[in-house]
Amino acid sequence: MSGTKLYEGKAKILFTTDDPQILRSQYKDDATAFNALKKGTIAHKGEMNCAIASRIFQYLESQGIATHFIQQISPHEMEVIAVKILPIEVVVRNIAAGSICKRLGLEQGQLLKQPLVEFFYKNDELGDPLITDAHIEMLELATPEQVTQLKQIALSINQHLQEFFKRCDLILVDFKVEMGIDHQGKLLLADEISPDTCRLWDQNIADPSDRILDKDRFRQDLGNVAEAYQEVAKRVLQA
Ligand code: C5P
Repeated sequence: MSGTKLYEGKAKILFTTDDPQILRSQYKDDATAFNALKKGTIAHKGEMNCAIASRIFQYLESQGIATHFIQQISPHEMEVIAVKILPIEVVVRNIAAGSICKRLGLEQGQLLKQPLVEFFYKNDELGDPLITDAHIEMLELATPEQVTQLKQIALSINQHLQEFFKRCDLILVDFKVEMGIDHQGKLLLADEISPDTCRLWDQNIADPSDRILDKDRFRQDLGNVAEAYQEVAKRVLQA
């Protein structure tokens, strides 16, 4: 396939196409965690995440969320609209898990009274620190209007995703999204939504380790990582 490599991230490679407004996003089997301190591969992850993300982008588009997704063009590749990614990771949490438990002493699995939006500065050298609206303004990472939009869109995505994953018997614990600006200045959901970027628990399993169907299996060496992604793919593609 034509095109030159524009950018290689931890989980995907972006290539140019003949159209400057369109890029090819290639999903990799590589897996990293803890700011790439832990590295590995998950068999067929590229294909599974590409299929899962494609389905989710299509679903969100059908619910009125503007995304960068155009179409899936091969098992591990999709065409996307070229955007300038804001260097902000937007995390939405419904249940306490991961970094918020360490940071604030919350109990893992504690249901939050309402969804919580957090911002992290996308900066590997600094280890993606938590930032506030004031930091975003100070660092000029986005305008105050964009910050308001980011929160609104993230909460709307959360509502739609919770509904979608419920149909898959999956509990959406939390997730991370990245957004970008297209050539017309429009804010679009970009990057990916997959078990790499969401915590997903099997609704029908009570055991706190057995129910995990996302990258925490890789992070915590719980085993059956590819099997968990496969299970999510099966359910998401049927939903
Ligand atoms: O690590 P933490 O608990 O802050 O992660 C919150 C959510 O964001 C999790 O679903 C995790 O998979 C996702 N995340 C991500 N990429 C990062 C950091 C977190 O997809 N760099």
